[in-house]
Amino acid sequence: MTHSEQLFQEAVHYIPGGVNSPVRAFGAVGETPRFIRRAEGSRLYDVDGRVYTDYVCSWGAMLLGHNPPAVKKAVLEAVQNGLSFGAATEAEVKMAKLITKLVPSVEMVRMVNSGTEAVMSAIRAARGFTGRDKVIKFAGCYHGHSDSMLAKAGSGGITTGVPDSAGVPQGCATDTLLAQYNDLNSVERLFQQNKGQIAALIVEPVAVNMGVVEPAEGFLSGLRQICSQNGTVLIFDEVITGFRLAPGGAQEYYGIAADLTVFGKIIGAGMPVGAYGGKREIMSQVAPAGPVYQAGTLSGNPVAMAAGLAQLGQIQSQPLLYQKLTREGEKLREGLRSLFPQYTVTGVGSFSCLFFTQEPVTDYSSAQKSDTQLFARFFSHMLNNGIYMAPSQFEAMFLSSAHTDNDIDCFLETAKEFLL
Ligand SMILES: Cc1ncc(COP(=O)(O)O)c(C=O)c1O
Repeated sequence: MTHSEQLFQEAVHYIPGGVNSPVRAFGAVGETPRFIRRAEGSRLYDVDGRVYTDYVCSWGAMLLGHNPPAVKKAVLEAVQNGLSFGAATEAEVKMAKLITKLVPSVEMVRMVNSGTEAVMSAIRAARGFTGRDKVIKFAGCYHGHSDSMLAKAGSGGITTGVPDSAGVPQGCATDTLLAQYNDLNSVERLFQQNKGQIAALIVEPVAVNMGVVEPAEGFLSGLRQICSQNGTVLIFDEVITGFRLAPGGAQEYYGIAADLTVFGKIIGAGMPVGAYGGKREIMSQVAPAGPVYQAGTLSGNPVAMAAGLAQLGQIQSQPLLYQKLTREGEKLREGLRSLFPQYTVTGVGSFSCLFFTQEPVTDYSSAQKSDTQLFARFFSHMLNNGIYMAPSQFEAMFLSSAHTDNDIDCFLETAKEFLL
């Protein structure tokens, strides 16, 4: 038995399912989670001494790869000064200024501790601002695990067979309206049926929690228009796309401004962080400036701010970063397309997905046509040959700036052996 297997046996006794987040379990792909000891650049090292090239990148957070020198230095320096003060710091002001500079639709921003918390708070701000209760989300989009966002919430739910969580009060669920991704008619129908009642529409501008599904031409601009016409707050969940697709995220990439934007882990370079921000008139409603209450003991934590400022600082000092990430992403996608011409390869910039279906994938139901058993076999083959991917068909393969051409050649060579 390997050390990972021993640890997992022990873990399931003390931790539900042996993991602290469901997508970390390898149950759906018939494997045991590998316990990771350390990471550097594009590599993960497990407790059994095995080395993997990492295509999860802490679920997108590690834009520069693991343990980049600038981030490590900033964290070590911050730690010298103390871990948490529960009081205002200069780093929070710097972070707020940097985010508002990179994402111009964000005029004010509040730091929180996770993407889940950021979404939950953004929705509360939208409800407080509009005085309305209902929220539209898209089937297959994941916005964290707050009660109102757990309807048809994508990867974790699909993979673990819990698409709609137990324990969510009926009242919460009735205020969440479900539309189909890339289908503006389904959105318009909901607006007609709930006139004057929709506080917010939340969307992943590129959906990455049902595998990667790109927005069709006109979809995001259509949402922008419908929300403006109805006085509804358009929320872009940029937990994945923010600072990854472009310095200004999907909003810069597609040229659409949201009213509120949600960010996550990438702002903390791997530290537990989230943020939400947007129009001044909406964010001014948040306490103590306004009546929408939201708070957090560890929000804006000095070590997390130092890590995030160091990572986001690199975005500014490396103008070619995004070209490199996109070039690598395209190389991976082109390679996969030529190896698997019968299947569907999607992606944009530095995140990609290989769906084991012959049909185009444009929404939740087309994503679900993928052969998950075949994905499980592919996953095991890759894992056992040193390639660490997310243990679910409905996740992205992430690249970082630490990935090299050679890493991608190696990925494609390993994938080719799967076919033999
Ligand atoms: C688009 C999106 N929104 C929100 C979240 C929730 O973030 P967290 O896991 O930090 O709570 C995630 C998590 O991956 C995500 O992908």
